[in-house]
Amino acid sequence: MDHDTTRRVNASIDRDDPLAELDRALRTRPRTIPPRWLYDDRGSELFDEITRLPEYYPTEAEREILATHSVMIAETSGATTVIELGSGTSDKTRTLLDAFVAHGEIERFVPLDVSEATLLYAAEVLAQRYPDLAVEPVVGDFTRHLSRLPSGGTRLVAFLGGTIGNFHLEERRAFLGALADVLEPGDWLLLGVDLIKSVDRLVAAYNDSQGVTDAFIRNALRGINRELDADFDLGNFDYVPLWDAREHRIDMRLRACEPEVAHIGALGLDVALEAGEELRVEISTKFDPAAIVAELADAGFGHTEFLTDAAGDFGLALTRRR
Ligand code: SAH
Ligand code: TRP
Repeated sequence: MDHDTTRRVNASIDRDDPLAELDRALRTRPRTIPPRWLYDDRGSELFDEITRLPEYYPTEAEREILATHSVMIAETSGATTVIELGSGTSDKTRTLLDAFVAHGEIERFVPLDVSEATLLYAAEVLAQRYPDLAVEPVVGDFTRHLSRLPSGGTRLVAFLGGTIGNFHLEERRAFLGALADVLEPGDWLLLGVDLIKSVDRLVAAYNDSQGVTDAFIRNALRGINRELDADFDLGNFDYVPLWDAREHRIDMRLRACEPEVAHIGALGLDVALEAGEELRVEISTKFDPAAIVAELADAGFGHTEFLTDAAGDFGLALTRRR
């Protein structure tokens, strides 16, 4: 069970309006920053750096699974359209697409991401790599715009990188339900999930020695300052990553060292922070394989093949819409 009441309150707000969403998130206690503020151009660059950090094991673990099983995934699914949600640079996805192209049934690749510059650049690179593939990027929000996905043929939706772990439980359930609704029986889902492991390794992955994750989380305030005429004092915050053992998730927060009143011009809002008060920015949930397989079944997906890397660090679930 997810006992986080903050998000239950936020679940009712209008996500189509980022200003109203932020206004609510900052007035609710504990205060939160919606994760959309992480992925401006600089945020996407910092995330790309995270994937190359020695402590950040998920990217290489997922790459290993894809290297081992992409041919099987292409053959088993026979998908003609591959859709990737939150595709970012689509770097690992090349391994998957190489196998689909070699198999010969794929016609179209549709990456969807909110980060427009990163998405369009990645699409350009892929279009050159695969001259016979239609690469059709969609700028959009995977929590709201799944209806923009193309229909027809057999579709495989890839949602990699453990991004589903960045949803709270009720958001995850809503997302899987919405995805099941837009898919037809026989379409496929390939879902990457990070697995529960030793606390030391989990915390190190989100508290790297170079401070890149700190900069990535802090960048949310920089974006709010720039875009909303706000004056958060970035130097007044400590980055605090915590392991929440009950919820199986890393909880990433920014803690105000000194009291501060931040003014957000575009909202006409003064945010009065006490010394030690925290802004909750992001979570990263870690999964037990059986639990996520059960969630997929509840959402309307059929038998799930659960693949892992040799070390058992990361999981890739291949499942089919019933
Ligand atoms: N799939 C890549 C990137 C994961 S990071 C990998 O596995 O390495 C998460 C990605 O999702 C980023 O590219 C970010 O821009 C995108 N993203 C975050 N929230 C999103 C949303 N609500 N809708 C669409 N894309 C989103
Ligand atoms: N989904 C990945 C993860 O949870 C990537 C990611 C999303 C991330 N937000 C993050 C990584 C914040 C570090 C910090 O690991």
